[in-house]
Amino acid sequence: MNTIASQTGLSEQVPELAVADRNSFFHPFTAIRDQEQGGGLVVARARGSRITDVSGREYIDGAAGLWCVNVGYGRSEISKAIEAQSLELPYFHTFNGVSNEPGIRLSEKLLDLAPSSMRRVFYGSSGSDANDSAVKLLWNYNILRGKPEKRKIISRTYAYHGVSIAAGSLTGIPVVHQDFGLPLDFARHVSRPDLYRDAPERQCHTEEAYSAWLAEELDQMITSEGEDTVAGFVAEPVMGTGGVLPPPRGYFEAISRVLEKHDVRLVADEVITGFGRVGAWFASQLYDIKPDLILTAKGLTSGYLPMSAILVGDRIWSVMEDAARDGRVFAHGFTYSGHPTCAAAALANLAIIEREGLVGRVADMARPFHDAIEAQVGDHDLVGDIRSVGLMLGVEFVADRQTREPLPTAAKTAGRIALAARRHGALVRALPNSDVIALSPPFIITEEEISELASALRKAIEDVASELKEEGMLPA
Ligand SMILES: Cc1ncc(COP(=O)(O)O)c(C=O)c1O
Repeated sequence: MNTIASQTGLSEQVPELAVADRNSFFHPFTAIRDQEQGGGLVVARARGSRITDVSGREYIDGAAGLWCVNVGYGRSEISKAIEAQSLELPYFHTFNGVSNEPGIRLSEKLLDLAPSSMRRVFYGSSGSDANDSAVKLLWNYNILRGKPEKRKIISRTYAYHGVSIAAGSLTGIPVVHQDFGLPLDFARHVSRPDLYRDAPERQCHTEEAYSAWLAEELDQMITSEGEDTVAGFVAEPVMGTGGVLPPPRGYFEAISRVLEKHDVRLVADEVITGFGRVGAWFASQLYDIKPDLILTAKGLTSGYLPMSAILVGDRIWSVMEDAARDGRVFAHGFTYSGHPTCAAAALANLAIIEREGLVGRVADMARPFHDAIEAQVGDHDLVGDIRSVGLMLGVEFVADRQTREPLPTAAKTAGRIALAARRHGALVRALPNSDVIALSPPFIITEEEISELASALRKAIEDVASELKEEGMLPA
């Protein structure tokens, strides 16, 4: 979501590609003006945790693409599975009960890995469509059990659930709403859990007290909306794009009590956290969350092909199964639901994660990873907070470490640090609407590469701190 760089300009790399890109390619989450001025990066190839651009420059990919290339780049096992499946049966639909073996095997595998209350798997192609499908599943479930008015879905400020109309409504990031007239009316937002910024403001001095405060806020919202109108609560177990925010201790326990009291279903959006990113197969297992739906995408195929999977829990499935006795059709699904080639890619990806013990590796690397980043950047005046779970880490920048005063928005500090890091050979992500850099490298990143990443980040922070001082945005 960063605006693109003029410093590492595409025009310097391959001029004709720069012109062709500018004149033809409409980029997502990109400032059109910046692209017109010739910035950008054209990536050409990748291996392991390293990306090479068209001019031959190498970068450590500190973000695994967009939190997704978990097994790293260049895995021939996945490419071969894709080739073999596309020669055998590249595509067929799964409507009207038609199935295919990779889709069946993948469904079995996912139910095997997931919490035991999950009963069935529904497929799409993206995290956004998984969220849209989840909304429709909740609406369908409540209609089937005779509660058609129970439709509102509560999400959280700064949450990211995608950009399609329903998912974009659940997202709580202002820039995703403001130019589109979103959110739609079914969506509500309670506060994000932000231990660094919000807990002190709420006078919550322990994590448990903060969790209780957040649960009370949710309780009040459901009560004031009317529990007969609220269908679901959706949450990323560790909030990603909203700032890399781990839940405070006791959060999901407290929230779940409120949801149970009001007969509201819990949706865990594990699009980032699923398949090992937090050092467990699912964050729902790590935090002992008992969701009714688990949404996955990204790490399901490590981004080699697009695929999303919704794990449907017992309580929702049993209502749908009962209602189906009269021959009712679940009138929802996509051309690419259960795509056999994507399923083959997912199976190969999961086989790598299992065989190489990558979930355990993430758990083992979590501390050393955090410590390496902390050791390099933790003492810098601009760094207010470093938080992490598994291989998901956020660095928040501030004007004053003592008071936690934010930097001026106009300084665009995190965005500039991401660009400076690129000059120093590392790709990191500046998150929208907060001064946070997110790191989420591939699970196979080596210790040496972590040091390179940390040192590039340090240099980038130093560069931007000097620039901000020169511009009078920070005291000299
Ligand atoms: C938690 C979460 N949910 C949903 C999405 C949307 O996924 P997609 O971009 O594949 O639609 C994302 C994307 O970053 C995400 O982080």
